[in-house]
Amino acid sequence: MATVVIVLAAGAGTRMQSNLAKVLHPIAGLSIISHVLNAASSLNADHTVVVVGHQRAAVMEYLATSHPNVITAVQEKQNGTGDATSVGLTALAATGVALKDQDNVIVLAGDIPLIRPETLQPLHNLDRDAVVVTAIEDNPTGYGRIIRSGDLVIQIVEEKDASSQQRDILEINSGIYAIKHQHLVNHLSNLSTNNASTEKYLTDVVKAIADSGGKVLASLVDADDVMGVNDKEQLAQANGLLSDRIAQYWLHQGVTMLDPSSTWIDVQVNLAADVVLYPNVYLEGTTSVESGAVIGPDTVLRNCKVGAGAKVISSRCIGSTIAAQASVGPFSYLRAETSLAEHSKVGAFVEVKKSRIGRGSKVLHLTYVGDAQIGEESNIGASTVFVNYDGEQKHNTIVGDHVRIGSDNMLVAPVEIGDGAYTAAGSVITENVPPGAMAIGRSRQRNIFGWVLKKRAGSKSAAAAEKHSQSDIFPPTNNSEEA
Ligand code: UD1
Ligand code: CA
Repeated sequence: MATVVIVLAAGAGTRMQSNLAKVLHPIAGLSIISHVLNAASSLNADHTVVVVGHQRAAVMEYLATSHPNVITAVQEKQNGTGDATSVGLTALAATGVALKDQDNVIVLAGDIPLIRPETLQPLHNLDRDAVVVTAIEDNPTGYGRIIRSGDLVIQIVEEKDASSQQRDILEINSGIYAIKHQHLVNHLSNLSTNNASTEKYLTDVVKAIADSGGKVLASLVDADDVMGVNDKEQLAQANGLLSDRIAQYWLHQGVTMLDPSSTWIDVQVNLAADVVLYPNVYLEGTTSVESGAVIGPDTVLRNCKVGAGAKVISSRCIGSTIAAQASVGPFSYLRAETSLAEHSKVGAFVEVKKSRIGRGSKVLHLTYVGDAQIGEESNIGASTVFVNYDGEQKHNTIVGDHVRIGSDNMLVAPVEIGDGAYTAAGSVITENVPPGAMAIGRSRQRNIFGWVLKKRAGSKSAAAAEKHSQSDIFPPTNNSEEA
């Protein structure tokens, strides 16, 4: 017996009031549709079909890259969930799949991102004609209501079509069903549009099965797990619920969080026990953090790898590797392809792009490092700029081991600073510095004797200078001149 999954994602999503297709909105680092498809993959279905329509180009492009194994079916006009299911089955048939009467067709709304694999397991139960996943909602507004006769479901009534008595029912339709293929064949083509939305409701198939003596079971699950996202308020709610769920998971894996409610962890993130997360931390994408690392407060790590015992404080790091015992921040920005080796340090107000900072090296204050390779145990003085851009092209800088770059240097790339070399503070380094050399790239200082006494006579500065003897004010040195 075959199992097929049909995900309905063609709706206009009007209530989102968004230019982005509803099912492409991200929650915890994955689109809504990916959450649904990932949970559905636990069903090990033979085929998965996604019905697209509204904003289909964007949705299809996304599916082609993120879920290349699903079949897409285009619903030209959004005539309702019943019509969408027909479209899905037709597309499947067009690929050459001939379903048998007893085959299990599992239909999922594409806008229920919090479903868990466990929620879907009862759909494999075959001792019935259909299963509807239901939940008790304190506020059932907007959902279809479940009408039962004893244990069996006999009808689903949409909010818009419901009598006031039916609206008082708290058991709702989650939009998740398993239906024997023969019943879809028998009833989908007969659906009417004689309802408040003038659409073909998939929910009416349930009534048709029950009316013809079929057995429709309800599988009651937690309401949070099947919440539908129809507007931005529900999107925010789903975000909060999933974030709480993820935080709970990592707390039970031994991660320390000072304030789980302000800690946002995407689903693909991986954390070790004894990672410490301070408040207001965002761990995004495929970020991973090893044991003993301390992150935050006020930190974003997107697609980063953080090694054991590393520290990242009040900083933003994208696509970077921060090795064990390295430290970053406060107030620094690591951009793509940055790699900090073990025990290296990036301090305050430092930006690093596409560079490697070697083991034990330090870039501590107010510095830009771009397109550079820095060796081991080197020190980059405060306010240094790796001048990597000539207005047209980017160039590389290489700094060796045990180098001392003075404060406020401009290292004009392409340039290479040899092992053990020094550069003087305030230097503009335009030529390679051999190993062990001291490079001084600045004009010499001139002292103009008595300038203030002459040019600023009567000022407080002049009075301060006058407290000194004439030989202090006009000292007899070389390299000096009189005003
Ligand atoms: C639907 C159910 C409702 C249930 C709720 C659960 C129907 C008639 N109603 O209502 O009983 O409580 O889901 O969340 O099924 N879609 C299409 N093509 C269409 C129409 C919809 O693909 O022509 C897709 C949408 O993109 C969406 C899903 O089907 O992913 C559900 O449609 P939506 O309009 O959100 O239905 P609800 O009003 O939420
Ligand atoms: Ca919905």
